[in-house]
Amino acid sequence: MSTLLPELEKRRARRALSDKPISPEVVDRILKAATLAPSCFNNQPWRFLVVKDPDKLDLVKKHLSTNNRWATVSPLIILVATKASLDCQLEGGRDYALFDTGMAVMALQAQAVREGLYVHPIAGFKAIELRKAMGIPDDYILITLVILGYPGSDTLLNDKQKELERSERERKPLNEVVCYDSWQFAS
Ligand SMILES: Cc1cc2nc3c(=O)[nH]c(=O)nc-3n(C[C@H](O)[C@H](O)[C@H](O)COP(=O)(O)O)c2cc1C
Repeated sequence: MSTLLPELEKRRARRALSDKPISPEVVDRILKAATLAPSCFNNQPWRFLVVKDPDKLDLVKKHLSTNNRWATVSPLIILVATKASLDCQLEGGRDYALFDTGMAVMALQAQAVREGLYVHPIAGFKAIELRKAMGIPDDYILITLVILGYPGSDTLLNDKQKELERSERERKPLNEVVCYDSWQFAS
């Protein structure tokens, strides 16, 4: 039996969604989970624009890249934005806004898995146009859309995506991404 957290093991970037609505209580819990993430100086730089109104949802979906057509089934999409000035900016290139926002999105994903949802962050969308269309100020980075939905049908998936839906998870072995006591990575 695995000793890893079940929500982490179970989470996959699934695409075969249903359009079944997600209750406000569930949405509240996943957002609450997101906000429990740590952040530099407790700055909490994450901003979540939850889109569920059908017209607004259509507008968001118009900005998806073509290979994200599967996401058009989703009943609720969370736009995640931040900007550097909302968080610590320290020497050595350490702007923490994106890092802390990423941690919040991971917590959100773990709770969403717990709620029986598929939860899938994407980068494939027209970020600048969508930011404008949704009235998000120019100085924000619209870093990801989190696509949510209960498990459903794979009819909108292309062949490759159908295959991925059934595939084992792929990860680099630990020794490619971890070293101990001295830096041993090639570059
Ligand atoms: C920042 C980010 C952007 C991603 N963008 C897309 C995307 O545009 N379309 C898509 O189908 N999957 C997208 N994914 C999902 C990844 O392809 C997926 O997480 C990765 O292949 C690992 O698979 P797993 O999450 O099932 O373990 C994205 C994931 C992340 C974290």
